[in-house]
Order: sequence, then C-alpha cells, then structure tokens
Amino acid sequence: MSAAPILIKEVAQLQQQLGECRATRQSIALVPTMGGLHQGHLSLVEAANQQADVSVVSIFVNPSQFGPAEDLSQYPRNLLHDLELLKSVSADIVFAPSVLEMYPPGSPSSIEPGKNAVRWEGSLRPEHFAGVVAAVYRLFELTKPNVAFFGQKDYQQTCVIRELVQTLDLDIDIIVCPIIREPDGLAMSSRNTYLSPEQRRQATSLYRGLRVAFHAAQKGEVHAKTLIQLARQQLDAAGIDHIDYVAVVDGFSLEPLHQINANAFMIMAAYAGDTRLIDNVSFQPPQF
Ligand code: PAJ
Repeated sequence: MSAAPILIKEVAQLQQQLGECRATRQSIALVPTMGGLHQGHLSLVEAANQQADVSVVSIFVNPSQFGPAEDLSQYPRNLLHDLELLKSVSADIVFAPSVLEMYPPGSPSSIEPGKNAVRWEGSLRPEHFAGVVAAVYRLFELTKPNVAFFGQKDYQQTCVIRELVQTLDLDIDIIVCPIIREPDGLAMSSRNTYLSPEQRRQATSLYRGLRVAFHAAQKGEVHAKTLIQLARQQLDAAGIDHIDYVAVVDGFSLEPLHQINANAFMIMAAYAGDTRLIDNVSFQPPQF
C-alpha cells in the first residue's frame, strides 16, 4: 500500500519541506490543479513521478481565473477525496493553500500573459489567462520545480504557460500530457459532474466532431473550412446550439489556418446546457 502524501497548507512549511529535498539533490515536479480530481489529473501525477524524485500536486481553486458569471462557487471541492486519489498514485506532497496564503496582501502585482492568451479562450474569457498565469507563476516561485506537468486538454493554456516560461527565461521544463477520455470519448473534466444524463450524451459530440475531422484529414482533406464543417455537423446533430468556436489553428501561434500544416490542431468550445466544454486534437497521428 502506498503512503499518503504529505498535506501542506502553508507556504513556510512547503518551502521548508522542498528545501530539504533540494539539499539532498532531489528533483522536483509540479502538477498544478484546482482539485475535483479525475484520471486526467492523476495521469499527470504518474508522469511527474516517473520524471522527478518528488512530486508536488497543488490544489487551489483559483478565484482570479473565473469570470464574474462563471462557476467559482459551484466548482467541485472535496479535499479528502482528492487526497485518497493522490495516495493511489503515490503523490509525495499536496499543497492546498488558502487564498490568503497563495496571494498575501502586498504580493507582487500580476504578470501580463503574452500573445498566446489573446485569441479563443482569451477573447471569450477576458480575465481568464491573467488569472491562470498569476496562479501558475506564484506556484513556480514557491516550489521552484525542475519540471511542471500540464494537460493537452487545455491546449491554449499550455501555449500560454510555455510563452510565460520562455519570456521570463524560467529554468523549468514544461511537459504536456495527452488528453484522458471517458470510454465514450468525452474528455475528462471536473466540470463533467454538472452534466445531466441528456447533456452528458450531447457532450460526446465534441469528441465525435474531432474524430471525424481527424479521419478526414488522414484521408487527405487539407482545407480547414471543410474539416470545421464536418466537426460542426456532429455538434449540430447532437442538438448543441451554443458553439463558441470550432477552429483549425497552428499549434505554436494559435493563428487560424486555411489549410492544415504539420503542427495543426482543431480546437473547440461549446456548451451542453450551461456547462462549457473544451476539447482539441492534433492532426498528427497517432490519435483516436
Ligand atoms: P485543472 O482544470 O484542475 O487542471 C489541472 C491540469 O490537469 C491541467 O494541466 C489540465 O490541462 C489537466 N487536465 C484536465 N483534464 C485533463 C484530461 N482529461 N486529460 C489530461 N489532462 C487533463 O488547468 C487548471 O486546473 C488551472 O488552470 C491551473 C493550471 C491549475 C491554474 O490554476
């Protein structure tokens, strides 16, 4: 049986614990999360354990990345259950700070996210990436990890974080892990718990849309417009009537493409009921 992770709620204790790890030359991996953990998060912890001596999983529902009309108050919070799951994958340290501990009065003013934050999620959720960058940068400062793990599920977020690391010349390797899906293809997400059975069925159309587009591209379709149409048909057929975007973009710049290139992705955001879902796929095989 694996040992329970060490639960730390205070910055001073985290820094003392990690100071001891560094003194014995142990490498540190950080996995930032907002809790409500599922197999997608746990896959990041497993990857972190393989790559570094000590895995630190942060659990912090970060108020600054939620818009005023978003689900901050509703967001799943169950630390005991999260700790059980983290024990099952042998996480070493869980850092679960309060808002005050994370952002003490007088803490440094926020860092502007770069150009990767402008489009897509950035234009629809204007404060979102500034909030993400504030939390992730603070966690980087506190843990000083050698490596940090993020999921491709939030593809634009990975681009924003990579840009942050590059711009500030931080000595942290960023590893992006594959999307973990439910058996029917729906990308795992803490927000899936909001879905009614009917919305849960509708939600699988995002995966189907990506898969249809991916297979069309494998058969030689290169035009973004056609690939987008094919994907949108799946969402329409499932009765999804609120689509924020379905786009084919360059995986580095996030600029829309007319034709797919070697690093093209399809990204999408749509609602099942009131629940906003995002998903994406790279057109590079192997997928699905
Ligand atoms: P959260 O939504 O909890 O996700 C934490 C990490 O788990 C992110 O890197 C996310 O991409 C990854 N993840 C979520 N679902 C996944 C899935 N189905 N497969 C693989 N990885 C998945 O993303 C955030 O929190 C926050 O913005 C955070 C980075 C913690 C900053 O507050």
